[in-house]
Amino acid sequence: MKLFLLGFMGAGKSYWGKQLAEHYQLPYFDLDEVIVEQEGMPVADIFNEKGEEHFRKLEGEVLRELTLSNDAFLISCGGGTPCFSDAMDFMNAHGKTVWLNPSVPVIVERLQRKQYKRPLIQDLSREDLLAFSEKKLAERQPFYEQSQVVISDDEVTLETFDKLINNA
Ligand code: S3P
Repeated sequence: MKLFLLGFMGAGKSYWGKQLAEHYQLPYFDLDEVIVEQEGMPVADIFNEKGEEHFRKLEGEVLRELTLSNDAFLISCGGGTPCFSDAMDFMNAHGKTVWLNPSVPVIVERLQRKQYKRPLIQDLSREDLLAFSEKKLAERQPFYEQSQVVISDDEVTLETFDKLINNA
């Protein structure tokens, strides 16, 4: 099985990615972590020193490399991955895409805890974070909603994933 877990920052991709990889006995890749390892610097530094365009190019390349060089996996994408480099078409052609889509208040609550790590929201106040998340999510929705599986519960369970993934 080739599973791609996607969704906005703070949607729970890393947490659920690890849980699901263990549940389905799949090799687990966190796209951001693979990029950080390859570049030898944190995502925020890549953005600040080399620019977002460079990061998006790398993201598209690493996604393709991992997908084509492994028979089975769970890949946790970055929040923006589906929106660049024709990634949705690519992922849908090569595996199952799962969109983790909790409500914006849940996302914002989580984002406040690790804001410093995320270059797009690093300097935002709480009010700005809410407005930013609503706007960015609306922009990204057309990409995310091309997913084969959509999970919009704020409280997700492994059983929910299992049922939806097996039926997709
Ligand atoms: C981004 C999300 C981040 C990371 C980068 C850009 C985005 O990943 O790839 O900071 O554009 O939404 P997470 O969704 O894992 O935070």
